[in-house]
Amino acid sequence: MKVIDIHSHFFPKTWPSLQDKFGGNDWPWLKHLPNDGTGLDKAMLMKGEQAFRPIYSACWDAEVRLQQMEEQGVDQQLISATPILFAYQKPVEQALYCAQIFNDAALDICAQGQGRLFAMAQVPLQDPDAACVEASRAMASGHVGVQIGNHVGNKNMDDEGIVTFLQHCASENISVLVHPWDMLGGERMPKYMLKWLVAMPAETQLSIMSLILSGAFERISKDLKICFAHGGGSFAFQIGRVDNAWNHRDIVREDCPNLPSSYTDRFFVDSAVFSDESLQLLTNIMGNDRVMLGSDSPFPLGEQRVGTLVREHQQLSTSSKSKILGENAMSFFGL
Ligand code: CO
Repeated sequence: MKVIDIHSHFFPKTWPSLQDKFGGNDWPWLKHLPNDGTGLDKAMLMKGEQAFRPIYSACWDAEVRLQQMEEQGVDQQLISATPILFAYQKPVEQALYCAQIFNDAALDICAQGQGRLFAMAQVPLQDPDAACVEASRAMASGHVGVQIGNHVGNKNMDDEGIVTFLQHCASENISVLVHPWDMLGGERMPKYMLKWLVAMPAETQLSIMSLILSGAFERISKDLKICFAHGGGSFAFQIGRVDNAWNHRDIVREDCPNLPSSYTDRFFVDSAVFSDESLQLLTNIMGNDRVMLGSDSPFPLGEQRVGTLVREHQQLSTSSKSKILGENAMSFFGL
């Protein structure tokens, strides 16, 4: 049974100062911390002068990552950037520069990965034309897909430019992972990581609903391979509510000709839901062919022992587990 983790993140160990290059005081950078002798090297991810998140060397050191994969029984891992590196809110030239340096850095890490690490590229999604060009460049240079943030400012996934980008991906067989970021309602969630716990799942649900209810899935080629992180967020638990609304309110049906739940054959989700009951619901709604192992490692909110939720699930059959742990990802990413 091959085990492929499709949702994990990297940071290069260093990169050129974006603040020096472009000005502004909100660029990401790594403040490496002195090793206190208690284990792996650590760093603080900074956003300007603000501490954003503590990380450690599994993010940049392929050797550390391979060691962990070995311990956890993970055969292959896909690495992608963290949305803080996307620069969607910046001028497109700056976002393109970020995409190029981080995409190339991801391939450098994969080159140390003994054939077990693969990368997904980032693109300057605020400019669909530039995003298409960088996606194609990245694929030609060795990436196996792209990862995009789930919105660009106030533009949701049904934005004409984003749909154009998705159509480009469909036509060039570029697999897409959608990752939530820049969470809505954040001003009401200053504490307890509520932005990650409440708003992030809502962001992902919003993205899926915007593609379904806008009719975008009717216009986008069925060849598109698109996957949503974190099990699709709140989507699976709330799809019954959406179907009910579609049945009873014409303003919900306005642009969406088919029952919303019928579109679950148009996308995939990862398995990062952290409870047996949630994974059971998710596989019931999506089917076993459309869920792929995703850990969100090596972050504290990720699965600490990658694959445990799927492997130890009491109800899933061996063949279902095999699909979720690896087979679905092999066909989705052409691995
Ligand atoms: Co993630």
